[in-house]
Parts: sequence; structure tokens; C-alpha cells
Amino acid sequence: MSPLADFQNEIYLSGLGDVLPVWPTDLTRLEERAEAVLSAQAFGYVAGAAGSGATARFNREAFDRWRIVPRMLRDVADRDLSVEVLGQRLPAPVLLAPIGVQSIFHPDGELATARAAAATGLTTILSTAASYTLEEVAAANGDGSRWFQLYWPKDRDLAVSFLERAKAAGYTALVVTLDTFTLAWRPRDLDQAYLPFLRGVGVANYFSDPVFQRAVGGPVTAENRDTAILHWAAGFGNPSLTWDDLAFLREHWDGPIALKGIQHPDDARRAVDTGMDAVIVSNHGGRQVDGAVASLDALPAVADAAGSQLTVLFDSGVRTGSDIAKALALGAKAVLVGRPYAYGLALGGEAGVRHVLRCLMADLELSLALAGLTRPSELSLDTLVRG
Ligand SMILES: Cc1cc2nc3c(=O)[nH]c(=O)nc-3n(C[C@H](O)[C@H](O)[C@H](O)COP(=O)(O)O)c2cc1C
Repeated sequence: MSPLADFQNEIYLSGLGDVLPVWPTDLTRLEERAEAVLSAQAFGYVAGAAGSGATARFNREAFDRWRIVPRMLRDVADRDLSVEVLGQRLPAPVLLAPIGVQSIFHPDGELATARAAAATGLTTILSTAASYTLEEVAAANGDGSRWFQLYWPKDRDLAVSFLERAKAAGYTALVVTLDTFTLAWRPRDLDQAYLPFLRGVGVANYFSDPVFQRAVGGPVTAENRDTAILHWAAGFGNPSLTWDDLAFLREHWDGPIALKGIQHPDDARRAVDTGMDAVIVSNHGGRQVDGAVASLDALPAVADAAGSQLTVLFDSGVRTGSDIAKALALGAKAVLVGRPYAYGLALGGEAGVRHVLRCLMADLELSLALAGLTRPSELSLDTLVRG
């Protein structure tokens, strides 16, 4: 039995001493548990989606339309879930999606997430919109694997400064999120008139940045805080960016670059043409374009267009081991897990995130083995049928 699936034994053995898991092992139940411990504003921010929530729903429904067909008597004793993603060896094809403002879920926020990622050997992707600085998170992550996610600001000098700081702090790959140059119409946040950034939360990377500080007349203090927040709001996103602008990032970042938010095969082809290394098929968990295609439904065509020229990663709607298996069978090399670990963070800080990651990895390994598979690379369309 591998150490990943061994989590199952650990749980059953604890039961002999009457110790039960503190948090649900069915990760689809975390949302309701998190609602009980979070403020209405923080819960609305994480659980909410764009518009009517249709795309968030489609994301989950798309998984249900694919069914795994288990195969028997295939010797699945020797199992290895590890994969290499953009030069990083991971124990399982799972990364932690960039999630901003994590201190609204738990005071330790991104620090706890970075520690949990390091403890499980998985890569954490830090958001530009983090509650702690990228240097603080790097220190918490230690020898762990970390990537930096860029929200490309209007000020190019600020973008370059973020990249230089990320490089210096040991972030090995750059994730550029393309689908959020402005926030979508999000009724749950609008109804509560709640945007954490305007309250000075989720702006640590900006406030600590020398380029940003120069623009607001020096380090951010009580005196210039309102000016700093307004400056952040005015410069957060740049709706005029085009494919040609990616050359600028290439010039200033010498590691791998992944484009996040790709949903169309032509955009994957553009990513190849512009010298990118990876695409992340994602609709931001249904938080941006309401009524947009389910991310899983967009995956096969994007993977096909990417061929062997790009690494294809996937997110939006991943909740279980079999969800991961399905995304891999449809062409992803690995998945990003989003809301589930944010709920784990809300429920139990670092230990809560670790619980979620260990559940996912154990569930994935057991699901693969019971379907007759020993390695992620064995997953293909042959593993699935349409339900
Ligand atoms: C509360 C919250 C904050 C997020 N913040 C960011 C962010 O700062 N940068 C980013 O690229 N994506 C962000 N995302 C999107 C995630 O990276 C990921 O695409 C999404 O959570 C996947 O959908 P899922 O949560 O349904 O699995 C955020 C998602 C949530 C739920």
C-alpha cells in the first residue's frame, strides 16, 4: 500500500481508539461545514460565483456526465501516482489553485496553505492578491514547491517588480491569470457590498512592493492607506492586454509560464505560438462568465490543440479522486484544487488543508487501483464512457 492510500488505514485504525476524523472525508460536504464557521461575507466570497451560478453548476454537472469503467485482474499492487509538471516532481497530479485573500478564511491564511502544501509535497500557487507577502509565504513553504500567479497590473514596472520578487523568493513557475482583468458580476458579494481588497485585505504584495510604494508616496501607513487602496483599485487589471503583450512577460521571466483561464482550442494554439509552456483550462470556478461552458467540457478540444507542445492543467469543479481521474483521462496532466482546500483552511488552518489534500490523494489512488490502473499516465478516453 502506498503512503497516499494509507491515509484510509490510518483513519480506520484511529477509529479503534474511538478517534474519528474531525472533518468530512467526502469533500463535497466541506462547503456546508465551512458555512457554519465563516462570516456571511467570507462564505459568500468563497462559495459564490458569477451571475446565477450557472457555470459553477455546469462545472460539477460535467463531471457527472462522464463515468469510469473499471477493469479487473490487472495486477495493481505496484502503484505510483507521481507526475512531473513543469520540471516539478509531485507525489500526485494535484496542485493548490491560486486563491486570494485567504486570511478571511483563517488568520494564518496563505501561510497555513503553504505549510500544508510543503508537508504533502504538492505545489502551492500563490495569488498576487494574497493576504501575506510572497516572501512571507515562501518562508512558510520552506523547501516546498511554489509557483506565483500574476494578476497583470496596468503598471508594467509593478509587474516586473512582482516577477523579480517571485524569482528571488524561489517561485519556479509563473501562472498568468487571463480571465480576471476585472471582477465579474458576483451577486453574493454585491448583495453584501463586500470586496475585501477595499478593506485593505488581499493587497499585501502591493503594499509591500517598492514600485507600488513609490507611486503612493512611500510605505503604506494610516495616512496614505486610502490613497493606496484607490491606487490598487485603479491599477489592478488591464483590459487592453493582447497576445502580443506576452512577449513582455517572456522577457522578464525565464522559467515556465502557464496561461490560466484557457477555454478555446484556438487560444491554446496562440499559447503555443507565443512560446508559452502550459495552459490551465479553467473558468475560475464559474466566478467570471456566467453561462460559460463547463471547464471539463472545454478540456478535450484544448488538450487536442495543445498536443505535445504545451502542458495542459485543469481546474474548476474538482472535488473527488474520480473527478481528477476524469480530468486526466480527458487530457490534463494534473489538476488544481480550489474551493475544497479553502474550506479545509476555514475549518482547521494548516491541518484542515492537509486533511483535504490527503483525502484527495488517497481517494485518487484507490479509485485508480479499483478501476484497474496504477499510474496517472494510464488514464485515457478508453477509461470513460458518457453517462
Ligand atoms: C475565493 C476564491 C479566490 C480565488 N482567487 C484567485 C486568484 O487570486 N487568482 C486566480 O488565478 N484564481 C483565483 N481563484 C480561482 C481558482 O484559482 C480556481 O480557478 C477555482 O477555484 C477552481 O474552481 P473550484 O474552486 O470550483 O475548484 C479563486 C477562487 C476562489 C474560490
